[in-house]
Amino acid sequence: MKIGNLNLKNNLVLAPMVGINDPAFRILCKKYGAGLVCTEMINANAIFKKNKATIKKLESFKEERPISIQLFGANIEMMKYAAKIAEKTADIIDINFGCPDSKVINQGSGAALLKRPKRIFEIIDGIVKNVKIPVTAKIRLNKDAIKISKLIEKAGASAIIVHARTPKQGYSGKADWNSIKEIKENVNIPVIGNGDICSGKDAYDILQLTKCDFIMIGRAAMTNPAIFKEIEYYLKKKEEKKISDREKIELFFEYTKIADKVGYPKFEFVKRHALNFSSGMRNVVSLRRKISTLKNIEDLKKEMDSFIKP
Ligand SMILES: Cc1cc2nc3c(=O)[nH]c(=O)nc-3n(C[C@H](O)[C@H](O)[C@H](O)COP(=O)(O)O)c2cc1C
Repeated sequence: MKIGNLNLKNNLVLAPMVGINDPAFRILCKKYGAGLVCTEMINANAIFKKNKATIKKLESFKEERPISIQLFGANIEMMKYAAKIAEKTADIIDINFGCPDSKVINQGSGAALLKRPKRIFEIIDGIVKNVKIPVTAKIRLNKDAIKISKLIEKAGASAIIVHARTPKQGYSGKADWNSIKEIKENVNIPVIGNGDICSGKDAYDILQLTKCDFIMIGRAAMTNPAIFKEIEYYLKKKEEKKISDREKIELFFEYTKIADKVGYPKFEFVKRHALNFSSGMRNVVSLRRKISTLKNIEDLKKEMDSFIKP
């Protein structure tokens, strides 16, 4: 499996997710089967302005490589500058042309650029010429999605990621996998299909239907980083093998062990992982209520531990 000149161990990609994809989480997803992990979207303008907290987000660790660093922005020169800096710690530079968040749209970035195909071309073309690693683009759907995909290819991108919803949809409705199929039929670079892949069967179905080359998983990985192993298993055996609730809580402890080495994000983020990993479990209401009130990692570990100890 290749994106540009980069070899990947499989076709399973962790989606970029703000407030979720800290280094320890990415390493956990890699350990549980992701062939490629992504950072959250990172503001190119802030990199250009040498904002310290933003530069810190570019940090990557050998345990998680290969990694894709996702940038957002609309200014070509700033994007080129940011990509050059990001290249030092990345294996792929991904550009966000899909974020519908008003803060991003109001800057003319993310999904706002879907209305400016020429600018999309210029941003990718500028970055491709300025870095040595593969460049990819992540889009959502609009009426020009095929034209935009062709422009992305023409600009020299090594792959295109399609979250099969319009910006207006947010997360409502079902992802339109048929549009991924159409895009795949119209470009020659690898297509990474994304949207509503929640199980091994979903992974199998989207690969069969669209013939896309890779699949990207977001929310299902957010609540269960072992989803990648589950998908690998299904693709081999055509049967689901899901991890137990207990194993999911154990994944949280694995996360903390990795974070002990590579560093913790803000406590709020760690709490969010605990809430995400425990979501959908049986008899979990009081645990989740308690988690929301906790103020430090030791108490959080204690609560999670007591949930699985008889
Ligand atoms: C909490 C959260 C944060 C996200 N942050 C980003 C982001 O930084 N960049 C991006 O391109 N998409 C972002 N997305 C969208 C996901 O990458 C993905 O396209 C979307 O969730 C659909 O995939 P899924 O159905 O597998 O979740 C985010 C989604 C979620 C749920």
